[in-house]
Amino acid sequence: MQNLSEFRSGADYDAQYDHLYDPEIAYLTQMALGQKGAILDVCCGTGIVTIPLAEKTGFEVHGVDVAEDMLAAAQAKSQHLHNIHFHLADALDFHLAQRFALSIMTGNAFQAFLTEDNALHLLQHIHQHLSDAGLLIFDTRLLEGFDLTVDTDFKLKSEYIDAAGHDVRYFWKKTRFDDINHILYFDKKRQYPDGKEVFSGIELKFFPQEELYSLFERTGFAVLHQFANWQMSPFDLAGPGAVFVLQKE
Ligand SMILES: C[S@@+](CC[C@H](N)C(=O)[O-])C[C@H]1O[C@@H](n2cnc3c(N)ncnc32)[C@H](O)[C@@H]1O
Repeated sequence: MQNLSEFRSGADYDAQYDHLYDPEIAYLTQMALGQKGAILDVCCGTGIVTIPLAEKTGFEVHGVDVAEDMLAAAQAKSQHLHNIHFHLADALDFHLAQRFALSIMTGNAFQAFLTEDNALHLLQHIHQHLSDAGLLIFDTRLLEGFDLTVDTDFKLKSEYIDAAGHDVRYFWKKTRFDDINHILYFDKKRQYPDGKEVFSGIELKFFPQEELYSLFERTGFAVLHQFANWQMSPFDLAGPGAVFVLQKE
């Protein structure tokens, strides 16, 4: 399994990322209203997308995530909703009785599945949870267009105020690219005003595009749309990322 040290604190994750999701929420709300049925958010994290989808559509929404504190934050933020349910589980091993008209995976969570077997299993598992002609919509960075060059030192990526009100300087360093398995390894560093530094790490899988399409085909998904981003910019084969809209065949 992917190193989950980046997902230790749901409150801090929200403080850093919560404000960045308007395009995802707008696009997925529109798609969910078209699908008219229950929604499954795989690797839902703190519910940044899950919760607005439940609020805006009124449909029943289920979120699955393996990181305890991320899910606890999602639960705490959605106490007022009766149409939302969170499940602490591995995305490769959860079993819900319900079938879903739409499944989503945001935040490039697809890249947490580091082997072809895991990605295959994940897509099969989601496929089984979809109703006939159900949709899976997810984003991923692309091997062909993402800058995979390793860094010699930490680079400042952003600054934000964390859940405790501290000014945080957030750095990352791409430490290694495994070009056989197409996995990029990052070290992360957060610097606090008192000089304290907190380190974490993550690794991301990059499937070559022909392998992505082969995975879709082998798991029974047809590509309905593909975009460069959540604003629906035209898909770019050599771009840094993509959003795929897949339909269960
Ligand atoms: C980058 S975050 C994205 C969270 C959320 N989808 C969003 O867009 O804010 C990736 C999430 O995937 C979860 N995750 C990673 N591997 C998982 C697995 N095998 N099963 C379930 N969740 C997993 C992590 O705990 C984390 O919450």
